[in-house]
Amino acid sequence: MVKLDTIISLAKRRGFIFQSSEIYGGLNGCWDFGPLGVELLRNLKELWWKAMTYREDIEGIDASILMHPRVWEASGHVAQFTDPMIDNKVSKARYRADNLIEEYIERLRNKKKNDLADEIEKKLISANSPSDYYNIIVEYKIPDPVSGTTEWTEVRYFNLMFKTFIGAVEDASSVVYLRPETAQGIYVNFKNVLDTARQKIPFGIAQIGKAFRNEINTKNFLFRTREFEQMEMQYFVKPGTENEWFDYWMNERINWYYSIGFKKEQLRFKVHEKLAHYANRAVDIEFLFPFGWGEIEGIHSRTDFDLRNHQEYSGKKLEYFDPVTNERYIPYVVETSGGVTRTAMAILCNAYDEDEAPTEKGTMEKRTVLRFHHKLAPIKVAVFPLVNKDGMPELAKKIHYDVQKHFKAMYDDSGAIGRRYRRQDEIGTPFCITVDGQSLQDNTVTIRDRDSMQQIRIEIPKIVEYLKDKLNI
Ligand code: GAP
Repeated sequence: MVKLDTIISLAKRRGFIFQSSEIYGGLNGCWDFGPLGVELLRNLKELWWKAMTYREDIEGIDASILMHPRVWEASGHVAQFTDPMIDNKVSKARYRADNLIEEYIERLRNKKKNDLADEIEKKLISANSPSDYYNIIVEYKIPDPVSGTTEWTEVRYFNLMFKTFIGAVEDASSVVYLRPETAQGIYVNFKNVLDTARQKIPFGIAQIGKAFRNEINTKNFLFRTREFEQMEMQYFVKPGTENEWFDYWMNERINWYYSIGFKKEQLRFKVHEKLAHYANRAVDIEFLFPFGWGEIEGIHSRTDFDLRNHQEYSGKKLEYFDPVTNERYIPYVVETSGGVTRTAMAILCNAYDEDEAPTEKGTMEKRTVLRFHHKLAPIKVAVFPLVNKDGMPELAKKIHYDVQKHFKAMYDDSGAIGRRYRRQDEIGTPFCITVDGQSLQDNTVTIRDRDSMQQIRIEIPKIVEYLKDKLNI
């Protein structure tokens, strides 16, 4: 399996992802998307948006990031969106107490001490107060991975929401939060969408947008960051039908990941034993990252927790009137909550491959290739003149100009042709067009396929049609 460092270095070298504010030494837990990264993100979001909202029962919205502070009281985030944190007195390193214990369990399993690992895991599952976590850490003498010591502070809860102030006065009355999930923007617009979009239950509201969490330990590149993007959908259903809709969405969502190129053996469901404050059933879709299995999407049965609380806190009725049965009720919600940025990282890991390609001398050389699903590939086609003379650059530039009206295209005339193929393979470009001597005589070019490395010769006027067909656009 590819190492995470390989992905990070390729992502930086080729302009997918950079450290935020890199020239100032970087900002922990924040990343910037470069020219190729932004295309990848846009393609991913477009595929999700089409799959989720180009259907009769789901509407899209785009709510503001800053919301009324009462929203976060009603949602439970002010009181409960906390992580248990612990400091080591010697190294001064700060950890999420539950992660510290989980990682210790993992180490025990690697050493085949499964009985002890099971015993600690059982206690971790039932832990729900700072002292529970503290007692486990002390009882099992869990050491600090940095200093190796067991000198710990108490465990304290730490709220993950970023706070700021709205308006000119910085006091308690002007506190607002950067949203830690996009879902609440949907709940507070439930009535607006219901009244304007003429939907009937069951129906959903979808949204893509930034979310912010002041994570204690950011880690593993894009996996746990402080600023990230989510693609979330809340599906409003009649109470009592939530389980069947939950099963429906589990199936829909995993199939969507398969449809964008994820391999079956690299995805799995993980049922939650410990539930978030709003859920009565939850399952994660996990991807096998280089560092192990990790969640890329959560599917949660949120009951009427959010709408009921917003109704109570706002004083506005958030009920649904069923015109067929004449019933009035607060809908239950099944949520699908995916991370754009985390999934982009999974896509990079999933696409990474190494194989061999023929050189111009007829020998074989190692090549790195990102086998992106065509629809995700940042650049769809690259155009090269074989050499920079004899009218080839002029013709290649014209072809590039024409194809980029239809697809994101790149022009490259530097270095040997083999090098240029390698450069495109490494960023996952599905097709490369080469203008050669024959092109000027019979108006044809070669088109090379990234995966098979086969080339075909095609008449120039047929290029766009050929690519549209191959790229399924
Ligand atoms: N509205 C429910 C919700 O936010 P979540 O499981 O906390 O649920 C959903 O988050 C998804 O958002 C995760 O599966 C992950 O893809 C993404 N996500 C959450 N926290 C993240 C973080 N700190 N960095 C990157 N992505 C994150």
